[in-house]
Amino acid sequence: METNTINNIKLILDFASKPYIFSEEIKPQIKPFAQYAPINFKEIFNNSNPVNVEIGIGNGEFIVHYAQKWPNENFLGFEVVKKVIRKAINRVEKNNLKNVKLIHFDAKFFISIFEDNSVKRFFVNFPDPWPKKKHHKRRLLKPEFLKLLSDKLIKNGELFIATDHEDYKNEIVENLILCGKFKSIWNTWYKEELIDYFPTKYYRKFASKTGVYFFHLKNEK
Ligand SMILES: C[S@@+](CC[C@H](N)C(=O)[O-])C[C@H]1O[C@@H](n2cnc3c(N)ncnc32)[C@H](O)[C@@H]1O
Repeated sequence: METNTINNIKLILDFASKPYIFSEEIKPQIKPFAQYAPINFKEIFNNSNPVNVEIGIGNGEFIVHYAQKWPNENFLGFEVVKKVIRKAINRVEKNNLKNVKLIHFDAKFFISIFEDNSVKRFFVNFPDPWPKKKHHKRRLLKPEFLKLLSDKLIKNGELFIATDHEDYKNEIVENLILCGKFKSIWNTWYKEELIDYFPTKYYRKFASKTGVYFFHLKNEK
């Protein structure tokens, strides 16, 4: 059966009057068999500053901390749970941060339509571990997705991952090796302590007791 692809659909992401977009604004723009025009960060942020992306921002403490620390960089955050992203939105609005934009949508979809070589850093703090074996396939950090992150990162761009799940940590190491695009900044794939880590809510609530595996990776292309 032949399918007609609709090319170059430009998503309208209206951040003019608010720092966030809910999925209700995005879903009607998603069409079957469509190809989307690459996301233009300059239009989103009104500047050409470096772009950092956090996947699964939770209550937004982490992204807000770094946006305040690095005011000359941009921060784009993704979160799929509306109740959760609302907390992050409140935090961004309360702090009147112009360098943060939040999208209530699956990060995988948006990242796939970023321009190549456009992101300085990706942050993934405590991706859902899907502990049951039959659910492992739902884990985010698969080799293809890591390859996608590498394509979107600038050369020497960075990927930060934190997980408290040992089995997921082992899978991440395997997948990084399979992907072949990243190098650890240390002589080990991960560390179990990081002095300058900004503790997220998940870290404080669960992981601080059980221990965490931190990855700090450089994109080698
Ligand atoms: C375990 S929580 C960690 C939240 C936060 N990073 C923290 O450390 O407190 C994982 C978060 O990722 C979000 N998430 C999972 N898959 C996602 C995706 N594909 N795109 C955007 N957010 C996602 C979940 O809704 C959840 O809020």
